[in-house]
Amino acid sequence: MTDTAHPFEALMDITTRPKAVFVRGEGSYLWDDSGKRYLDFVQGWAVNCLGHSPNVVADALSAQAHRLITPSPAYYNDMSLKLAKALVDKSCFDQVFFTNSGAEANEGAIKLARKFGSLHRGGSFEIITFEDSFHGRTLATMSASGKKAFEPLFEPKVAGFRKARTNDLASVKELMNANTVAVMLEPIQGESGVWPATDHFLRELRGLTDQHGLLLIVDEIQTGMGRTGKLFHHEHVGIRPDIMTLGKGIGGGVPLGALLATQKASCFEHGDQGGTFNGNPLMCAVGVAVLEEVARPSFLNAVVDAGVFLEGELQKLSARHGLGEVRGRGLLLALDLKLPIGAAIVAQGLDKGLLLNSPRPDALRFMPALNISRTEILEMIDQLDAILTQIGAARRVA
Ligand SMILES: Cc1ncc(COP(=O)(O)O)c(C=O)c1O
Repeated sequence: MTDTAHPFEALMDITTRPKAVFVRGEGSYLWDDSGKRYLDFVQGWAVNCLGHSPNVVADALSAQAHRLITPSPAYYNDMSLKLAKALVDKSCFDQVFFTNSGAEANEGAIKLARKFGSLHRGGSFEIITFEDSFHGRTLATMSASGKKAFEPLFEPKVAGFRKARTNDLASVKELMNANTVAVMLEPIQGESGVWPATDHFLRELRGLTDQHGLLLIVDEIQTGMGRTGKLFHHEHVGIRPDIMTLGKGIGGGVPLGALLATQKASCFEHGDQGGTFNGNPLMCAVGVAVLEEVARPSFLNAVVDAGVFLEGELQKLSARHGLGEVRGRGLLLALDLKLPIGAAIVAQGLDKGLLLNSPRPDALRFMPALNISRTEILEMIDQLDAILTQIGAARRVA
């Protein structure tokens, strides 16, 4: 289809998208090319931790663009060294490999686990992952994911992933065998609708993997970088994973990801891993600036406060409209709609200037900027309240 204003047909048609074309963003708001303003509770899919086009990111980008953009990964650059050291200092990990996306970080984690298996565990290579999980869209990360819609796609899958059930340790034990090298999970399954692993389950998993000498890999691409009120979600639980992957928020909107590992797990040898743009100083300079901001205790406390406020307001809304539970942690929350009305709510929101996400037909997911204000939260609640009232009335008439 040809559009006179925009050449939509020049892009591969890989998903259903509304016709709005965004041209500007500031904080919690986006504007399309007609000048219409939208309150954004999607934020680039939980990416823009400081909101749209924050000065922190814009200034770091512009300053670094004038200094050095990319000298080649064959050489050290100051910004990747600085960001790696800052991440190591603020986490329980010892070494970092930078990537351009979350999927690439997970791909690296899978390779690292297989390398560990080949060096230390007689060639074991299987990784236990979880039903309904999401780890990315490369062939290996789609194979690792437990997303049902991926099952028939791009066969044959990459071998070596077995799927257990979250919060069910027995299902993990059943899948363990001599080929197992690691267990990999999202502490909160984001894409499938915000389903948390319990703290108890995460501790049990750490115990089990320690007992059998297996690696524990946490995919914190959605839960990391302050999203749940701690810099990394596993800090809530008090466990030390062997490998962690980061993406989304680490770049505050620019493409950056990271693979972090403890000394024990960090076993790549020369030639095992690399990539032309990996660790380029332009993205790493942004990462340094974002991390400085997000890791401040006062920033993380404000995320906790905003999360508690949003959760409370969603619970009130749910009670008013006879909806279900609010689940999640910090500023990664979902509202159970009890009915398959998610798509209708998202469409009405778009119409009214509110961007929402419905990861499954009966749920809404909220992933605003981490510095969102109470006023903006209340603005979203008011709009959602009106939409739910309208949908409720329409259902009663029907
Ligand atoms: C938990 C998790 N892992 C991996 C990914 C893939 O990240 P990316 O889209 O940057 O490749 C995502 C993206 O939604 C995610 O939520």
